[in-house]
Amino acid sequence: MRQSADELLRIITDNATRDVSEAQSLPPDIYHHPDILQLEKERLFGRGWICVGRTAEMPDPGDYICFDIVDQPVVVIRQKGESIKAFPNVCLHRCSRLLDGRGHISRISCPYHSWTYKLGGQLIGAPFMQRTADFDTADHKLRELRCESWEGFVYVSLDQNAPSIAGQLADLGEIVGDFRMANYAPVYEAMMSGTPTGSAWLKTSWMFIIFVECTRIRSVSTALLKIKRNFFRAAMLSRITMFRTTRGRTVSRHMQPIRGLKAINGCVLT
Ligand code: FES
Repeated sequence: MRQSADELLRIITDNATRDVSEAQSLPPDIYHHPDILQLEKERLFGRGWICVGRTAEMPDPGDYICFDIVDQPVVVIRQKGESIKAFPNVCLHRCSRLLDGRGHISRISCPYHSWTYKLGGQLIGAPFMQRTADFDTADHKLRELRCESWEGFVYVSLDQNAPSIAGQLADLGEIVGDFRMANYAPVYEAMMSGTPTGSAWLKTSWMFIIFVECTRIRSVSTALLKIKRNFFRAAMLSRITMFRTTRGRTVSRHMQPIRGLKAINGCVLT
């Protein structure tokens, strides 16, 4: 019989107070209970900060990335100057989706009836609306969502009152500060560009993908040790070079000993 959401929450809370040596797996119902899903939507996605990309993915004013937070379409856009702003990706006229995917724009133009907005969300064009009494484009602006950057990561929150993400991650900053992640530039897109298919993945290792899955790396590495030594070394190189700095050098002391291996993998470190 399915456990109630309250019971599941009690188990999670109880687990969280135990020593790690007494940790237990989450109850299976937690993954598919509709009430838990609803709580996740409200409390995690509705109130929390969602990491949506890297500042280096949007280097120029007008660069944008679209995504959905649960069922809320959102777009983040690099502004003139350094800031990045987030807006609901929804037209003020009749709620058409404004932008898709990622790319570069000089202004936001709705594909439905061509209402046009500045990068900062101000409405500047609304064809045929001049016939509407008391309508002034200056009165309309896309609602700005909370958007902050931390160490080069771009975060968005749907909660206007959410505490700053920088404050929430202050302790983590002390741990990872030496890595100077704000300077890292993603290389994935660069590796994909100029290739007609996704075969560029072959330039790196599947271990690249599980970079963040630290609990799996041990077993993966053991398996790799049975393969050619050079391949293993190349895989390890790929695993830690998802980013390079904007100056083309790694900054982590941990990474430096293997910089000489770049020829094996062919493209990541410079
Ligand atoms: S819905 Fe966007 S202009 Fe009409």
